[in-house]
Amino acid sequence: MFKIILFITILIAVALPDLTDKKWNAIFGEDLISNFEVKWKNSTPAKNKTEILSKAGKIAFYMRLYRAWIFTPAGKKGFVDRFPAPKVILHPEIVETCGDNGDNSDNKLYKCIDAIYSSIQKRAEFLFPSHNQSMGDFNITEENFRRYISDSMFAYDVTVSYLMCFFTKNELSFLSNLPFCSYGFEKGQKSVWPSSIFRDIANNPLVLNLPNVHEPIDILEEDFICADESFCPDPCCGRTTNRATFCSHEICKEQDIRRKTLSKLQSTNSSFFPKNQEQHSCRVDNNRNNDFLGLTLNKWNVSCTCTKNLSKTDIGYIFRFDTLQCVDIQECDILNDDKCKGENQECINYVGGYKCVCLQGFYWNSNSGKCVPFVLKKSNWFGAAHAPALSSTSGKEIGICFYLLYFYCLIKYDICCL
Ligand SMILES: *[C@@H]1O[C@H](CO)[C@@H](O)[C@H](O)[C@H]1NC(C)=O
Ligand SMILES: *[C@@H]1O[C@H](CO)[C@@H](O)[C@H](O)[C@H]1NC(C)=O
Ligand SMILES: *[C@@H]1O[C@H](CO)[C@@H](O)[C@H](O)[C@H]1NC(C)=O
Ligand SMILES: *[C@@H]1O[C@H](CO)[C@@H](O)[C@H](O)[C@H]1NC(C)=O
Ligand SMILES: *[C@@H]1O[C@H](CO)[C@@H](O)[C@H](O)[C@H]1NC(C)=O
Ligand SMILES: *[C@@H]1O[C@H](CO)[C@@H](O)[C@H](O)[C@H]1NC(C)=O
Repeated sequence: MFKIILFITILIAVALPDLTDKKWNAIFGEDLISNFEVKWKNSTPAKNKTEILSKAGKIAFYMRLYRAWIFTPAGKKGFVDRFPAPKVILHPEIVETCGDNGDNSDNKLYKCIDAIYSSIQKRAEFLFPSHNQSMGDFNITEENFRRYISDSMFAYDVTVSYLMCFFTKNELSFLSNLPFCSYGFEKGQKSVWPSSIFRDIANNPLVLNLPNVHEPIDILEEDFICADESFCPDPCCGRTTNRATFCSHEICKEQDIRRKTLSKLQSTNSSFFPKNQEQHSCRVDNNRNNDFLGLTLNKWNVSCTCTKNLSKTDIGYIFRFDTLQCVDIQECDILNDDKCKGENQECINYVGGYKCVCLQGFYWNSNSGKCVPFVLKKSNWFGAAHAPALSSTSGKEIGICFYLLYFYCLIKYDICCL
């Protein structure tokens, strides 16, 4: 019966019309990530690394502006909180060049970044002049940007953002720190982009051929923050450079309003709300958001500090974005790999935490620091109700062996109260 059900499930899964989704996750999955990471670390020459970093930094700068200012063909602007919905169809050129297609050659990452940069560079020559353009420096404003950039390559550019965000959330090390992060339109960022310098470099074969010409890498407060801010939307922090910290989250704001107005929601028993938004309580952790399909669908897994009491934080609870509630963490399921590893122990989950206990039939022996079996010795008859029990090994009295327990043990374990 079980097999039949399983079979039907598989059939249904295959028959579902999200075949393309499955394909996406195969093309942009763990294998691709580990391949790129190994190749970057072991078989990318230093000169190529410099070039990849330089290009990735420029793509990042472009995407920071693009995601803030460009309209979708449907007329919606701003992808700082979410990717566009519905998701765009992946651009075939990027799938071809960057996706997992069995090509494990050393220069695949190089080719991928190079192809993306070339495409963007052609459309954004005002930023990255390569020919004999007498391009002045670029004032980083929305008006200037939109004067040159259209939405004609929208699917391409959003695919770039998906892909680079996927690399970022999977923490591919080439994205940990990028050049040009200090350029942008936010407070404290440099607001004039030195296009003329790129033009001069492009026009000067001497400069171009110097082996170590290298743009300054901007080290932000935490690795991957620059790439994250450039490529990934963030429902908590939006397009800000302070994603290392917890940020206010619109859902929290909504919940906060709901909490005040809907008494029903407030009275749910096992679930409650994240701290209110003034507490800057939510963030999108990389390791819970590294799934390609998930991110294209804006299925962000937001971690918030959850509390019943706004003046303190309850650990043991997690904010679930799907239900918009703080729920108990099933620590035993999640942490069982490294918790309660001792012999004869098990993990017990309770609301707000977990506990390591000895398996039934075992007790905690503080001398040996282990759960040891109850091996009880019957001693003299003390009356109808109970008898003292002695450990058969140490002979020490370890407690009272109740009369009923005695029979219970005898029947169940055949060992105790011998
Ligand atoms: C290194 O860069 C050169 C171009 O400068 C390119 O032809 C080659 O494929 C790259 N190799 C790797 C391993 O990235
Ligand atoms: C750039 O200038 C050089 C000579 O200075 C010329 O040979 C070349 O054709 C020019 N390129 C473009 C794209 O105008
Ligand atoms: C940028 O804009 C400011 C005014 O907003 C202007 O003074 C400055 O000259 C501009 N710089 C460039 C390089 O266009
Ligand atoms: C809370 O729990 C009680 C009993 O455990 C139940 O009757 C009540 O409906 C629950 N409240 C909500 C809002 O789920
Ligand atoms: C968030 O977690 C769910 C469940 O594990 C997963 O299906 C989804 O893809 C994740 N989202 C991202 C962006 O990785
Ligand atoms: C909330 O927590 C604070 C600090 O632990 C405590 O002083 C306060 O009494 C708590 N309030 C409630 C309503 O439990």
